[in-house]
Amino acid sequence: MKVQKLNQLYEGKAKKVFETSDPELLIVDYKDDATAFNGLKKGTIESKGIVNNKVSNFLMKMLEEKGIPTHLVEEISDRETIVKRVTIVPLEVIVRNIAAGSLSKRLGLPEGTKMKRTVLEFCYKDDALGDPMVNEYHILAMDLATPEELQRISDYALAINRILSEFLAQAKIELIDFKIEFGRTSDGAIILADEISPDTCRFWDSETGEKLDKDRFRRDLGNVEGAYREIMHRLLGL
Ligand code: TMP
Ligand code: ASP
Repeated sequence: MKVQKLNQLYEGKAKKVFETSDPELLIVDYKDDATAFNGLKKGTIESKGIVNNKVSNFLMKMLEEKGIPTHLVEEISDRETIVKRVTIVPLEVIVRNIAAGSLSKRLGLPEGTKMKRTVLEFCYKDDALGDPMVNEYHILAMDLATPEELQRISDYALAINRILSEFLAQAKIELIDFKIEFGRTSDGAIILADEISPDTCRFWDSETGEKLDKDRFRRDLGNVEGAYREIMHRLLGL
């Protein structure tokens, strides 16, 4: 696809976003920069941008094939991908299969505890407020999404969980939890946006329980690069 990369629209913690010669398309450029705890901890994970670009595109392509609409258009380099332009719904949508992270802390459930059913959480995307958790009532009261959009987002999130969990299990990866974001296209459709990568998921080795995700960086567990490479290798064979 021939689109020209134009001016930078936005620089986030892990990606830069550029306008293109097509007003409906953007280019995302994945960085090696890593942050945690709302930017308090900073570092670099060598080649993370390449792994996240390729892993996210691979998983989104697989989800598309199973009927989930995504922003993915085309990978154009190791770190760059053309995506559909959307307005991001300001929610972090979190799906949890096994207790870990902030849920373990908040509810006193040891990490690794199996729960009776899947948990769906929403956080309001606002760095100044530290992305506070909100429920359906807050979302509708603040008009962050319409009731129809929220229903669609919830349905997609749970479907994505089922598809991803089953797919990753074949690569001996247990999907503990993950965070996704959705966007609105110019014609009002809700599609999966942002990324699905070791930055935004908890991936544990199904056999050993070894952490293969950003928790290695957050918690100083060592071999961060190796864990990211391992996920890319298991999924893409690279
Ligand atoms: P948590 O247990 O820290 O709330 O994280 C839940 C999931 O969301 C986990 O897979 C990591 C992911 N996550 C992000 O992608 N971005 C964030 O800023 C945070 C806090 C978590
Ligand atoms: N990316 C987030 C930040 O820098 C947090 C995280 O992933 O833990 O705040």
